[in-house]
Amino acid sequence: MDKYAPIGVFDSGVGGLTVAREIMKQMPNERVVYFGDTARVPYGSKSKETVTRFSWQIVRFLQEQQVKAIVIACNTASAIALPEIEGEIDIPIIGVVKPGAKAASSSTRNGKIGVIATDATIHSKIYSRYIKDMRPGADILGKACPLFVPLVEEGLIEDPVTDEIARRYLSELIETGIDTLIMGCTHYPLLRKTLQKTMGDDVVLVDPAYETAKECRQMLADMNLLNDTEPQLGDNPYRFFVSDEADKFKNIANTILPYGILGAKKIDIDEY
Ligand code: DGL
Repeated sequence: MDKYAPIGVFDSGVGGLTVAREIMKQMPNERVVYFGDTARVPYGSKSKETVTRFSWQIVRFLQEQQVKAIVIACNTASAIALPEIEGEIDIPIIGVVKPGAKAASSSTRNGKIGVIATDATIHSKIYSRYIKDMRPGADILGKACPLFVPLVEEGLIEDPVTDEIARRYLSELIETGIDTLIMGCTHYPLLRKTLQKTMGDDVVLVDPAYETAKECRQMLADMNLLNDTEPQLGDNPYRFFVSDEADKFKNIANTILPYGILGAKKIDIDEY
């Protein structure tokens, strides 16, 4: 395996940029190829079969880009497609669920953990399964918050409408006395301020994007696959691909990533 090859990162759309951003921050030497499935987003309301088929197509595309490892930067795809894919490819692949579950298991003091995510992730119960493996006896309370994704994509990050929806979604979790809340959807870390304000300062918010980048770094280090050379002047270490609306993707990316991207290339993912 070539340690100078890029890391492949994918999501149903722009949300996975919160994971890409952490990878760029924590591993500044790494090259990244990002794919956002903007033609077929959202995954959170689709069936297991569909999300798994889409994920396989993207994995094949990324393998064609000769990536050395793949990060599934989408909670829904990590929850329902990763278990099948990981057993069948020959490059390392990780998702965002396990690292998030691990961080929450060690952060909770009273053993009561909330998970907010898409419908598909909540119904998969995967966060509960991982947490119970690491912390048997933990009490895990899940809540699907489907409106958060369009609110973020509409730019309503700090807005009275978002405050109100957060109050409605989160009130039942607050009543249960959870002390840790997993932001189990790629878009939710962008709502961190609103979520923290609504839950109160005593509740620890776990960001699977941050935890995944940390885990990815460790995994590459263990396999001797960390890139030890800085990108050279004129190098373009980051490449972005989408299945639709490349300009819209670029505009949103430029509000999430710490630097401006020049553009994204549209490809036909159905060819894979
Ligand atoms: N990226 C998805 C996730 O993290 C959210 C958007 C979608 O439903 O596709 O679950």
